Amino acid sequence: MTTAQFPTLAESGLSPEAAELVTGPDEHPIHPEHTPTGQLAFGVFFQGVNSSTIWRLPSSGDQVAWESFETLIRTAERGKFAAFFLGEGLRLREHRGVPFELDVAGRPDAQTLLAALAAVTKDIGLVATQNTTYNDPVDLARRLQTLDLLSAGRAGWNIVTTDNAWTGENFRRGGYLDHADRYTHAEAFVQVAEQYWRGEQVAHDGAHYSVRAQGDLPRSAQGRPVLFQAGASPAGQDFAARTADVIFSPHGSLAAAVEFRRSIVERTVAAGRDPGSVKILPGAEIVLAPTEAEAEEKIRWVRDLQIGPEQAIALLEQYWGRDLSEFDPEGPLPDVPPEVVESGVTRGSGFQFAKAEELTRQWREEAAQKGQSILEFARAKSGSRRGAFTGSYDAVADRLVEFARLGAIDGLNITPWLIPSGLDDIVDHLIPRLQERGVYPTEYAGSTLRENLGLPPV
Ligand SMILES: Cc1cc2nc3c(=O)[nH]c(=O)nc-3n(C[C@H](O)[C@H](O)[C@H](O)COP(=O)(O)O)c2cc1C
Repeated sequence: MTTAQFPTLAESGLSPEAAELVTGPDEHPIHPEHTPTGQLAFGVFFQGVNSSTIWRLPSSGDQVAWESFETLIRTAERGKFAAFFLGEGLRLREHRGVPFELDVAGRPDAQTLLAALAAVTKDIGLVATQNTTYNDPVDLARRLQTLDLLSAGRAGWNIVTTDNAWTGENFRRGGYLDHADRYTHAEAFVQVAEQYWRGEQVAHDGAHYSVRAQGDLPRSAQGRPVLFQAGASPAGQDFAARTADVIFSPHGSLAAAVEFRRSIVERTVAAGRDPGSVKILPGAEIVLAPTEAEAEEKIRWVRDLQIGPEQAIALLEQYWGRDLSEFDPEGPLPDVPPEVVESGVTRGSGFQFAKAEELTRQWREEAAQKGQSILEFARAKSGSRRGAFTGSYDAVADRLVEFARLGAIDGLNITPWLIPSGLDDIVDHLIPRLQERGVYPTEYAGSTLRENLGLPPV
């Protein structure tokens, strides 16, 4: 379907928020070099260890059981999802130097799981998050190509550089790379993988490794695994603009998504690529109910389950860098200074340069001004908030249509707040509404992940 089949943006009645963001004609509403397809593709992100999936309800599954993965992927395939993603965490997450006891324990190996899931599915893409900081390029490229061959062209690689310094201790080289070095390294890593996939002689001598190899597997049905990228710093965006097929972004509001699209279009054009060949899927949490009032209530219920008193204190401890257990979660934010002056350089872009002292002071002021307790403040800062993708079935469908029409996003990568049933209402109630509105496929477009994402052939 093309945009020509839609009414004009003005005829379709844009919301005031969207109308403000439009800077061009219908064909290029947000950037002169970008033509919206008006279509959305969904992925599901099985993150496992995170702070938004609720593992303690009676209906919660088991984070490592086969049944959780199989049920979820079958639901996603019923909803014509383009992709099933697995997150990567190779070591227990740490909190103040010790394993974080509020996490569920561990994530099974993504490639082993996806190979098994390939056998019980037919159309859905299988995407493994794999970091470039600790893996070896030829070894990883070979395993991903194996998955692509086994699944007849449904494999994807979510390229991350990883902000977890502690993960390095699992590996022979130990340690970690500085933030700036991680992307230089990642780019060389992906070039080696691409040479391998093309069946070329690989000869790379870099700062961190030397490798001589020869591609030894045939091309898959889609040529090579689809390259996703997650990491939104300027260096991460440039890397994605040069390298990725799809960006898994953290920008969920309409204004942030439009700004991110503009930034990526500019960087893609500067890299000499067609901006239409880089898709953007923001990560999203979706909370739905038949009516707005029921949705409001459900959002509060979900958020309260996600962030209890212990999680609220732990969140602040990450920024204060010290034990805050003596503070009352129902009381005001701690009036003590943080113990770290600057956060570690291995953290991601969100916190990398933020001075903890300044941030914690700002937070104290903000919470005091709003009259929020620790618990209320933590709930407002994380988890399910009243966002773009929460509300009644119709309201969320209408919002998504607007995102699609503007070309702000090419779809969503959905993190279910409950596993394995967290996609049920999306597939049963939201997707039919998106299909009726003409922005979501009623059948898989092709047999490969590349085709189902509307990407050009390689
Ligand atoms: C949406 C999203 C998902 C991510 N998922 C993972 C993951 O599963 N495993 C991981 O090690 N890092 C993950 N990362 C972190 C990236 O590896 C990266 O280290 C981090 O975002 C810092 O890079 P940046 O400064 O460019 O944002 C993710 C990042 C984003 C934005």
